[in-house]
Amino acid sequence: MKIFIDSGNLKEIEALVPLGIIDGITTNPSLLAKEGGDYRALLKKICQIVKGPTSAEVVATDAAAMIAQGRDLSSIDEHIVVKVPFTKEGVKACKALSAEGKHVNVTLVFSPVQALIAAKVGATYVSPFIGRLDDIAGSGMHLIEEIVDIYENYQFATEVLVASVRHPMHVVEAARLGADICTCPAAVIEAMFKHPLTDIGLEKFLKDWEKAGFKL
Ligand code: E4P
Repeated sequence: MKIFIDSGNLKEIEALVPLGIIDGITTNPSLLAKEGGDYRALLKKICQIVKGPTSAEVVATDAAAMIAQGRDLSSIDEHIVVKVPFTKEGVKACKALSAEGKHVNVTLVFSPVQALIAAKVGATYVSPFIGRLDDIAGSGMHLIEEIVDIYENYQFATEVLVASVRHPMHVVEAARLGADICTCPAAVIEAMFKHPLTDIGLEKFLKDWEKAGFKL
């Protein structure tokens, strides 16, 4: 399963990319707004660091303007993936941009039928938001299971990009279900590295080695 960073923050991105496990990145208007400054320069820098699919979202609400914004965002860097919201206009824009050969990520997906429609119009990625569903007592993981089943039935090429991830168990469950990608906030990726038994075990190994007076 691929791991993307869900962030617009350069410090977080620069700290995580050297781990060698990062395959791409997702941003959204809220994440970029939090950083401020020149969003085009920021997206360019992110693309240069990650060197992988980098989702940047349109903010128009009608298809023609979404298409224009998508083309504009794509001109920033070859790694840009145009993110469009799941609306009728977004679906039209996805179809048009995909037909031009652009990679499109259909976002704000909360139901399997929305995911089916996104695949039918050629989305490269579909982004079901699992944490936001869990927040309202829904089941984000059940949604992932349904989408993975549907896509398998028809061999859709659209990749399931699990979004709105809140903790490492979301990553584990998404991987068990065969989702293609999890996009994780930096804090979730950090948490994936932590295990108290690893820390305790390493401390003991190093102490025992030192006690023996060995040199390596
Ligand atoms: C994904 O592309 C979105 O940026 C993100 O996962 C939204 O997550 P949130 O629900 O934590 O805002």
